[in-house]
Amino acid sequence: MHFSYIFHRLLVLLLPLLSATVTSTPLEKRGSGQKYVFAHHIVGNTFSYTVDNWLDDIKLANANGIDAFALNIGSDSWEPNQVKKAYAAAEQSKTTFKLFISFDMTALPCATARNAASLRNYITTYAKHPSQFKYNGKVFASTFSGEKCTFGQRSVSQGWVSQFTGQLTGSNSVFFVPSFFVDPNNFRTYASAMDGQLNWNSAWPITVTTNSLSSTLKASGATAGRALTRQGSPLVTEVGEFIYLSDQLYPSRWQSIIEARDHIPMVEVLTWNDYGESHYVGPIKGSQPNSQAWVDGFDHSAWLDLTKYFSLAYKNGKYPVVANDNIYMWARPHAKNAIASSDPIGKPNNFGVSEDALFVVVLTSAPANATLSTSSVSHTVAVPAGLTQLSLPLNAGDSIYASISRGNTIIVKLAPRNFRFEANPKTYNFNAFTAMASSNSR
Ligand SMILES: *[C@@H]1O[C@H](CO)[C@@H](O)[C@H](O)[C@H]1NC(C)=O
Repeated sequence: MHFSYIFHRLLVLLLPLLSATVTSTPLEKRGSGQKYVFAHHIVGNTFSYTVDNWLDDIKLANANGIDAFALNIGSDSWEPNQVKKAYAAAEQSKTTFKLFISFDMTALPCATARNAASLRNYITTYAKHPSQFKYNGKVFASTFSGEKCTFGQRSVSQGWVSQFTGQLTGSNSVFFVPSFFVDPNNFRTYASAMDGQLNWNSAWPITVTTNSLSSTLKASGATAGRALTRQGSPLVTEVGEFIYLSDQLYPSRWQSIIEARDHIPMVEVLTWNDYGESHYVGPIKGSQPNSQAWVDGFDHSAWLDLTKYFSLAYKNGKYPVVANDNIYMWARPHAKNAIASSDPIGKPNNFGVSEDALFVVVLTSAPANATLSTSSVSHTVAVPAGLTQLSLPLNAGDSIYASISRGNTIIVKLAPRNFRFEANPKTYNFNAFTAMASSNSR
């Protein structure tokens, strides 16, 4: 999402993650009202986009259960023109798809009052646009970071209020949900400046020393308990932290969000197209930030397809009926302990917490048998109708295979020919290869 991070995080695998907004209104009132799923779209990676490229993204996202893009705006001079194209495409799409601005405050200046003018300008330019996402009748706006911005004022809160939210009135009023990187216990300090908090890093331990799923779920629950209280619409956001614990995280995190959906009015998928950090669910297109080495050939569209199922469950409060049988699989290209023969950078921090495994989700219309195989082992398990997460250890040189069968009939199988768990990688890559197959195309 940020060019400056690319070199530090070059090889870190970051699977897509989710942020979820949590209200602290009384329980019985939660769950009412429409729920939304967003995806974070890095405008900085769209230099070459045409209106049609935006239109394709919008239709694809819309078809997979996403309601709006958070347009991550950096400081490139050409970005306003891409935002204009994005809004034009959303309108042209003739869908309910919406857009809102997410200011990347690691890129945008915010030291002087004058710096706020361009932020306000984005809001006033699109406030009345038919494709602007609104919440509670206000223009929805977000950030990445911004917890140090003063806009020349005495404090961060004063800066944002006097130079941003407070100056946007009437039809330009904003519902401001920044992702300030602060301890959730300190949200109160910023309460006057925000209507909610997209807390990118709070729900999961940032420094993970174990890949045990239960430890992350506990951390998530603890964070969800802390709420920012603000009159009117008290909101706090929790977010799935992904950096070092991503193997099974995407489906697991969705499941925990769906369980807690009564508390969560909106969820943001991180991200649509952050190729640099490897956590994209959208197609590989546009202008990569020199990430081709670890992105090309690592399509993530299986996760986008899976997003649709989870999004429907989250929005409707029940898992959708599955009409056919589907296999989703992913794996990293080499063992975590493999030694690359000519890697200039080395392994990412915490690479050791990842598992050398084939990860599979089967989504079935009825009870079935699911088989997972590598070159060395094969396991079959009975699965119920609906979603089951499975995995199988991988060894150097393994190919991967999964199938769903009933009786003696294989209903659907998936054996990606272009994947082999590499024994002797030249360079490190902790990105994931994904693939999917369906018993009939949807
Ligand atoms: C799964 O496999 C077992 C063992 O072969 C078989 O008895 C069972 O009927 C199968 N289940 C289904 C749903 O086909």
